Amino acid sequence: MNSEPPSERAPLILLGICGGIAAYKAVEVASRLRKAGCEVHVALTDAARAFVAPLTFAAVTGRPVLDRLIPDGSAAGDAAYPHLYPATRADAFILLPATANSIAKIARGLAPDLVSACALSLPADCLRVCCPAMNVEMWRNPVVQENVRALEARGWIRIGPESGALACGMEGEGRMTEPADIAERALARLRAPRPLAGRRVLILSGPTREHFDPVRYIGNPSSGKMGRALALAAAEAGADVDFVTGPVADENLPRGPRIEITRIVSADELLAAAHARFDRADIVIYAAAVADYRPAAAVGEKLPKTDAPLTIQLEPTPDVAATLNTHKRSGQVAIGFALQTHDGPAKAAAKMKKKKFDGIVLNALDALGGESGSYTWISPDAESEEWGTLNKTECARRILARAAAALKRI
Ligand SMILES: Cc1cc2nc3c(=O)[nH]c(=O)nc-3n(C[C@H](O)[C@H](O)[C@H](O)COP(=O)(O)O)c2cc1C
Repeated sequence: MNSEPPSERAPLILLGICGGIAAYKAVEVASRLRKAGCEVHVALTDAARAFVAPLTFAAVTGRPVLDRLIPDGSAAGDAAYPHLYPATRADAFILLPATANSIAKIARGLAPDLVSACALSLPADCLRVCCPAMNVEMWRNPVVQENVRALEARGWIRIGPESGALACGMEGEGRMTEPADIAERALARLRAPRPLAGRRVLILSGPTREHFDPVRYIGNPSSGKMGRALALAAAEAGADVDFVTGPVADENLPRGPRIEITRIVSADELLAAAHARFDRADIVIYAAAVADYRPAAAVGEKLPKTDAPLTIQLEPTPDVAATLNTHKRSGQVAIGFALQTHDGPAKAAAKMKKKKFDGIVLNALDALGGESGSYTWISPDAESEEWGTLNKTECARRILARAAAALKRI
């Protein structure tokens, strides 16, 4: 994303136009966004070029249109990388009409054409909007639905499709939402207040590993997906993010210009890294699954396998949240997580009090490792609010909204 905040310059919006019959309506979207003061760029798929000529978009946006993934040999500078510029600087990307084909490519991380390659190059905190349009049977197809859900789970906003008469002659869900509506809703999201602008959020994420020899450890299956969703939601709300994470898959790391990642392995390292970043944080979110015990002694060489039973003496790891929260200054907000198999709300409320949290999220076992889970928010006055099953992006947004509100109250 541009380093200058969008409020001080025209938002840069990249439209990714696909080969659907509704492509002509994208011209009106481009025109409305430009009239609203945005810097509008357009990238076309090969199929889209068969529906609307690039010249139409060039005339409406006042800018050259990106219509080839591989530029001709005379291109230089930014023009030599049409999949990166302006995509890597975009404040918003709108895929419209989002075809089944392009949705699938982007959901699966494929980039064989300009629009999908642009979509994969967007900064993490870029607003991503998808406006599907297709025949009703295509839309109902489970694989299309699965791909749309995959985009939504990664934070894409879906606008439409609507029900009605379709260009192919059939009736049903599949019409692209009207251009005025798309432009208005995208602008509203883009102009939404950034409640955490100028704030810093420290997020502890992922598992820890407690080694007893160089290759063996005590650990847990935390994927880091909730931490990632929290970091992206915090960046979306305008915050700078310190992200301290245990070992997780690269795809579960949040990427973005305002997100600084520090990798740790053990509970001790987590405590040290978080401690070093604690004072400058306005909000601290404890989403890491810290091992409760570690081997009392670790050896420097791999233990040989023998037929004799191996006994490992365990000792408790430091209580990261309790230790850090003793340094909490007035005005700092700390949010915790609790996972309980029974008597959840009462135990979570007790944990909140003991560890000086300003709110705690109770998650059920189903939240482990997946894209979604069941969550209950417990406020400082021990009121519980059942959120039900949510994807982690939505859950993270709610947590950040509560934390921002707590900041205001303090
Ligand atoms: C007249 C016509 C209309 C089409 N309309 C749509 C549509 O609305 N939605 C869709 O997903 N595919 C539609 N298609 C099929 C796409 O053009 C095709 O899947 C193409 O590969 C999409 O490429 P793209 O996603 O790279 O633009 C249409 C094809 C034709 C010939």
